[in-house]
Amino acid sequence: SVSYPFFGTHQAGIVTPAQDRLHFAAFDVADDLSRDDLIELLQDWSTAAALMTAGRDVGEFGSVNGPYDAPPEDTGEAQGLPPAGLTITFGFGPTLFQAADGADRFGLAARRPEALTPLPHFPGDMLEAGRSDGDLCIQACADDPQVAVHAIRNLSRIAFGRAAIRWSQLGFGRTSSTSTSQATPRNLFGFKDGTANIKAEEPDAVNDQVWVGDGDGPTWLAGGSYLVARRIRMTIETWDRTLLREQETVFGRTKGAGAPLSGGTEFSEPDFVIVGRADAPLIDHAAHVRLAHPTQNAGTRMLRRGYNFVDGNDELGRLNAGLFFISFQRSPEQFTRVQLNLAKNDALNEYIRHVGSALFAVPPGAATGSYVGAALFA
Ligand code: HEM
Repeated sequence: SVSYPFFGTHQAGIVTPAQDRLHFAAFDVADDLSRDDLIELLQDWSTAAALMTAGRDVGEFGSVNGPYDAPPEDTGEAQGLPPAGLTITFGFGPTLFQAADGADRFGLAARRPEALTPLPHFPGDMLEAGRSDGDLCIQACADDPQVAVHAIRNLSRIAFGRAAIRWSQLGFGRTSSTSTSQATPRNLFGFKDGTANIKAEEPDAVNDQVWVGDGDGPTWLAGGSYLVARRIRMTIETWDRTLLREQETVFGRTKGAGAPLSGGTEFSEPDFVIVGRADAPLIDHAAHVRLAHPTQNAGTRMLRRGYNFVDGNDELGRLNAGLFFISFQRSPEQFTRVQLNLAKNDALNEYIRHVGSALFAVPPGAATGSYVGAALFA
């Protein structure tokens, strides 16, 4: 079973190949938490993350070898399971630096990156407070759902009294490839998703578009990134009554191979100029891939790493389904630019609704024996 080290230059879970499963949680810290408590929490989380990503139980004695008269240190449901490619990625929300009421709880206000402010309101947003924002976040990805859930469960248990889950999301199928070694998976509209994504094998694009550079902002964030999470409902019942022709027009790609409607195969560059018999471009002006394409966004790209979700159903029997969109970028401005373009004109908007939103600064990786975000407190 594959495993990824927790310690390193960059946090794992960004350019490491996207795993099949997600458990994502946003936390709010306790009102009376001190700066030292916060540091201790990040230290405890880092220690536990290093153990779990290596396929081990948390704590000194784990799930069954501790004292008989105490609760076990590890909750135990990952006993006997391999690491399953587990990655645990930590992020810091705007409110960690400055609370909603303006309070500088941890003496961090002066260290807040200028770009770490809540995302703007986009046309069509129907955001729910209970699915948005948070002081801290943890993205746990693994190829086994039990391993991802075990990670979030134990990290939230370790945080007891110091931070509590504000909202969380399970994802069951990746909707991106982050390596050319991976086949492109499909989203719940049945389309290949992740074709034109930034891949780990493109080091120039990763450096240019994903990692925060040395001169970009506060030095503590250099080598880190910004994580945008958007919970996007997909009205799949409406979609499923839509003609195949319309479905392909909406994306600008074929539903089978995922090739651009301008021709070629999956990885051919789309051509937005070439016209068909009706003198209209083969790829519609409002097509998602056109409006999201770097040529329509001043060269802007991002690394997408989202997951499909189905969270039960409503009283009419409609599935509560969608895409838990996650993207990593060097600056939140990259997401904002593309999303503004999409929110205004995307043909896809008829079938989707953004209901949750959050932005986090993702510090660089922790050095061996240190903890995630250490440079922020130095
Ligand atoms: C491309 C689906 C939301 C950014 C694509 C593709 C599909 C897709 C099928 C074509 C294959 C590919 O290159 O990956 C969806 C669905 C969404 C959604 C179903 C919502 C439920 C978003 C959002 C953003 C975004 C919110 C960012 C603001 C992109 C980008 C591309 C893309 C940058 C690649 C464009 C290119 O370079 O050709 N998406 N997407 N998507 N999407 Fe989305």
